Amino acid sequence: MINEKSFKKTSEKQIEKIVNQIKSNITVAPEIAMFLGSGWGEVTASLVENQIVVPYSSIKGMPKCHVVGHSGNFIFGKLAGKNVCIMQGRFHYYEGHDIQDTVILVKIMNALGVKKLVLSNAAGGINESYKPGDIMIIGDHINMLGANPLIGNVEDDGTIKFTDMSEPYNKEYIAKLKSICAKAGAKCHVGTYLQTSGPNYETPAEVRAFRTLGADAVGMSTVCEVIMARYYGMEVAGLSLITNMAAGILPKPLSHAEVVATANECKPKLKEIILNFVSNM
Ligand code: HPA
Repeated sequence: MINEKSFKKTSEKQIEKIVNQIKSNITVAPEIAMFLGSGWGEVTASLVENQIVVPYSSIKGMPKCHVVGHSGNFIFGKLAGKNVCIMQGRFHYYEGHDIQDTVILVKIMNALGVKKLVLSNAAGGINESYKPGDIMIIGDHINMLGANPLIGNVEDDGTIKFTDMSEPYNKEYIAKLKSICAKAGAKCHVGTYLQTSGPNYETPAEVRAFRTLGADAVGMSTVCEVIMARYYGMEVAGLSLITNMAAGILPKPLSHAEVVATANECKPKLKEIILNFVSNM
């Protein structure tokens, strides 16, 4: 059941209480935080050593994850020798959350001292040279959400900060990811990711319009989290698994089943890329 209360914006005070509850569960602060989307997360999470699993549902005041199959856990521990926190389950705008709550996990990670963020997702390929199963290292993005998580994000002195977005995705991370993907035998591209609000997939006309705007892939996550992360000055890496070609490119309808099937097939490759990258960050 959807609880309407969870759609209201979580206040700064509530976030502080959430962070204190999390701190009481962990002994080591994470250095790297990771949002691992469809296909990227499940296997990788199982490799975290000295795991401390904190379900979102065990924390008073956390918004609720509404999407079936998105479990909602913080997984703290060591991966490739680094102290990490993997977040299983994120808060999508299409679930009805306040735009500021779609980035609550980034706010929590910042409060825990995280300076490096890895985001991965499943996306539809707009660039016609892409194929399902390819990896797109996110080089830049377009916010097509019609909303922005920094709106109303007032500083202590009452002002609004104008966040620089000239290097949303860290250039050194992009270069590292290129060689790591090549080593993993993955066909990879560096491209521009566009986030819609969802939850419907795009129309063929929207896909043509997004291509004209310069988008190479489309999805329903990531951009708002990156905006918040750059506000905090975090170093960001983004990866999309192209799970399907976007609407209108192939003569068939889009299905969530296709997205899940491609994500499942690619899991071993995605795991290798994440592990190598984290050890090189
Ligand atoms: N569009 C939007 N989101 C997606 C897609 C798509 O084609 N594939 C996976 N997530």
